[in-house]
Amino acid sequence: MKYLIFLSLMINALFAEGYSSMPDVAPVKNDLYIKECGSCHFPYQPGLLPSNAWNKMMSNLENHFNTDASLDDETFKTLSKYLNDNSAEKNMQYKRSNRIVSSLNPNQIPDSISTTPYMVKKHREIRKDLITQKEVKGLFNCIACHTTADKGIYSERDIKIPNFGRWEDD
Ligand code: HEC
Ligand code: HEC
Repeated sequence: MKYLIFLSLMINALFAEGYSSMPDVAPVKNDLYIKECGSCHFPYQPGLLPSNAWNKMMSNLENHFNTDASLDDETFKTLSKYLNDNSAEKNMQYKRSNRIVSSLNPNQIPDSISTTPYMVKKHREIRKDLITQKEVKGLFNCIACHTTADKGIYSERDIKIPNFGRWEDD
């Protein structure tokens, strides 16, 4: 009996540890993606958008937010597959992928991460001038405020807004 209690405590501890160290979205582990999609901005994790949104974005890379981000055929195929294989709806065990997908209507295909209902809601309490200031430029620049965004960690204790500091909330 004592042994059983000990065992269940151990299992509990393991699960608690595993949960707290799990990132918000699956981190990027793809050098080609980092090279091609991380040259103009930080490489957004595929788990931040559902596959229909990635496909929509990939189908118009020549006119990608007023820049040309087009790729050769082979790179295009490899990265499209990578985005699809790792998109939000296939990674629902990650908290933020789950929340982003759940915030969308089934027939809604978002044009960006920062305009998804979940992201808009999460960021609505931030003063607008802190988002538009030149050190940040816009909500698209996740890593300007989320110091651990490159690891897929967006937790509040790792937020530091330029010219404002740490975010203390509830
Ligand atoms: C030539 C530069 C360039 C390249 C290469 C590029 N992007 Fe972008 N991307 C931009 C710009 C510009 C924006 C608009 C935001 C900004 O000003 O950084 C943007 C925005 C985005 C956004 C929306 C961010 C938000 O607001 O939610 C996503 C997602 C994105 N890019 C994904 C990709 C992917 C995937 C690739 C690789 C296939 C890629 N980008 C390659 C320039 C680029
Ligand atoms: C101007 C700074 C800033 C930028 C840029 C920014 N965020 Fe945030 N983000 C915050 C702050 C501050 C909060 C906490 C808001 C609150 O609790 O009211 C937050 C909250 C979040 C949360 C919820 C975290 C939690 O524990 O509830 C996620 C997920 C997130 N941001 C992801 C992103 C992503 C992805 C991007 C880029 C597309 C981004 N953020 C861009 C400042 C920023």
